[in-house]
Amino acid sequence: MQNVTFHDHKQQALSFLDAVVEGLSQENKSIPPKFFYDERGSELFDRICEQPEYYPPSVERKMLSELSAEIASLTGQNRLLIEPGVGSGAKVRLLLDDLKPSAFVPMDISFDYLKTVATQLAAEYPWLPVHAACVDFSHSLPLPDEAPDSPRLVFFPGSSLGNFDMTEAEAFLKLVREVLGEEGMLLIGLDTKKPEYVLNAAYNDAAGVTAEFNKNLLHRMRDELKIEVDPRSFDHHAFYNAAAGRIEMHLVSKRDQLLHLNGFCFEFEQGESLHTENSYKYEPEEFLDLASKAGMVTVRHWLAEEGLFGIYLLETTALG
Ligand code: AVJ
Repeated sequence: MQNVTFHDHKQQALSFLDAVVEGLSQENKSIPPKFFYDERGSELFDRICEQPEYYPPSVERKMLSELSAEIASLTGQNRLLIEPGVGSGAKVRLLLDDLKPSAFVPMDISFDYLKTVATQLAAEYPWLPVHAACVDFSHSLPLPDEAPDSPRLVFFPGSSLGNFDMTEAEAFLKLVREVLGEEGMLLIGLDTKKPEYVLNAAYNDAAGVTAEFNKNLLHRMRDELKIEVDPRSFDHHAFYNAAAGRIEMHLVSKRDQLLHLNGFCFEFEQGESLHTENSYKYEPEEFLDLASKAGMVTVRHWLAEEGLFGIYLLETTALG
């Protein structure tokens, strides 16, 4: 393949081992959700996206395919397109023919999965230079040296921003603002607040795929860190915390147990939870407020039927 290159920038980030030691040492135990995504976790996430209860991907895909030409008329063609957390690349495929970017920089934390996806994309779009970068986007957004010097467009679909709390989200948007420079634009998809039963069902699919995805952290702890832990000794627990405006996912210990790691011993009581994910939901005004703090204003935004999901196109403003 001529039109694909690979770059590994992940070593700058916190390792899984460090994150587990740090997260299990806290009073309220937690591990950041980015650690779901090894190759197995990325595949489980793709399967979540096929579950009927998990409405965001299908709603967002329908919106993107209907809006693709309109979006391209607002952004223009020949931009350098950058997608943090590209996953399977299903969404960017809906835009590429209209956007005609000068090059595409897919970024992901799972290098094995990223290589496969970037190689497929380069084969499907022979006219498109693809420069894949393995990065932890919560940490930095390094661009490959060979990326062309065109005006930039960051594509951040899938409500990925929802994993950050407000402080982190603002910091991430400022990082995006820096990468965008003066004529940059951001196209972002975000889940909205809605009745609790819809949200709760989305994170408790009947087939149990979300539960398996959540427990993938325990699989990684067992297989990579050699912690003797039975993934079946924890329950999946996901619910909407209305006061905080977020879905929370936890792994709840079914019994008292001790987990041993490198001379550390972490104690779980029966019913004690390991907090694995927050997924914040945004009303349009809430997000636009946050974006303005990071030096971006909306060009246009669109809501799905019944306000199920939001897509926002923003441009940079001069930083004060
Ligand atoms: C990838 C962060 C958008 O929060 O909805 C899906 C991850 N977790 N089901 C989300 C997820 C459980 C997802 N994001």
